[in-house]
Amino acid sequence: MENPFVFGSATSGEWFTDREEDARRLSANFRHGVNTILISPRRWGKTSLVQKVSEETRSADLKVVNMDVFACRNEEEFYTLYATELIKQTASRWEEWVENAKRFLSGLVPKISFGVDPMTDFTLSFDFSDKQLNGEVLNLSQKIAKEKGVHIVVCLDEFQQVAEFDNTLYFQRKLRSAWQLHQDVTYCLYGSKKHLMTKLFSKQSMPFYKFGDVIYLQKITTSDWIAFIRHRFEVTGKQISAELAEKVAVTVENHSSYVQQLAWLLWIQTDKEAIEAGFEAAYTDLLNQNSMLYFKYIDGLTTYQLNFLYAVTEGITSEFTRKEILQRYQLGTSANIRRLKTSLENKELIDISGKTVSFNDPVFKLWFKKNVRRF
Ligand SMILES: Nc1ncnc2c1ncn2[C@@H]1O[C@H](COP(=O)(O)OP(=O)(O)OP(=O)(O)O)[C@@H](O)[C@H]1O
Ligand SMILES: [Mg+2]
Repeated sequence: MENPFVFGSATSGEWFTDREEDARRLSANFRHGVNTILISPRRWGKTSLVQKVSEETRSADLKVVNMDVFACRNEEEFYTLYATELIKQTASRWEEWVENAKRFLSGLVPKISFGVDPMTDFTLSFDFSDKQLNGEVLNLSQKIAKEKGVHIVVCLDEFQQVAEFDNTLYFQRKLRSAWQLHQDVTYCLYGSKKHLMTKLFSKQSMPFYKFGDVIYLQKITTSDWIAFIRHRFEVTGKQISAELAEKVAVTVENHSSYVQQLAWLLWIQTDKEAIEAGFEAAYTDLLNQNSMLYFKYIDGLTTYQLNFLYAVTEGITSEFTRKEILQRYQLGTSANIRRLKTSLENKELIDISGKTVSFNDPVFKLWFKKNVRRF
């Protein structure tokens, strides 16, 4: 029987709901050559959305190339991935890969290696000591687009990773100055470390400042989740009331991945029609299944950091420097607050929008409140 809910990896087709507004905007950007920067906290659905729009907009004269730079640790690995994926994904047959590698990277003398399955395993390697050649790789997208007479959209997932490279600012400047001259290529840069992504694109001093349309992905609304959950129950021969479906979404603050996970756990508990007791059991499962992860989150946190998180679970979201709050939650001096915020934000545990602090992970928040005692 088909799987009613999917979580943990990017989703599509029947498991994909709503996002019509976001999809329309992204699709218009792809088709009209507007660069996009897409930002959201983890597991809200960036990859799923970009994949969906990529599928929908791909055509004979619009090639969409997707790659994930998460595993790249330095410039060289980035160039290798970039060139390999561009060559691979703009060719229609694998025989064309070698041909195109030679044709478009003539100056580079790439080494081509095939793996067990030539259809998928194909890697290029270069001699990176020649700096001029690196520039050639960055312009490869435009070169292919022009020679093939097509438009190319290049989507780079986990783009914030480039901030970790040595000499990152210099590298970012190189990318930007090459890419901004490309007339037949559009870029979609997206990633999950919201504060890092925001820094890369919203700070005037950064090379990618004003590179394109910045989209902060929104959460899927409660009413869309209700319709989605009820429908998924129905097509798999079960029922759930609107009230209980709403409870599933609201309990995890409409966080995409957790809605699907909690709905799945409730679905398993359900014989024909979902009931409250099933929900309670599913909710307990959800906390248990994720607890190893949450223990890792709190591992090594200082007492001040734990106290700060605790204050947030009690509904304190701003004005931490008020004397009464500093004392009640034992947060140290007011000068300490800025440090706490920065460190917890860097650890991806909290999000700061304006002056308001919230947990990035709504289920971690529930778990923390239940399991971590202050003092
Ligand atoms: N449009 C959607 N409809 C239904 N569920 C979704 C949707 N988008 C995401 N999800 C759920 O969220 C999960 C994570 O989605 P996805 O991997 O696309 O998010 P992401 O923001 O790219 O995550 P990460 O930050 O880990 O890269 C999916 O497995 C699915 O359960
Ligand atoms: Mg992703």
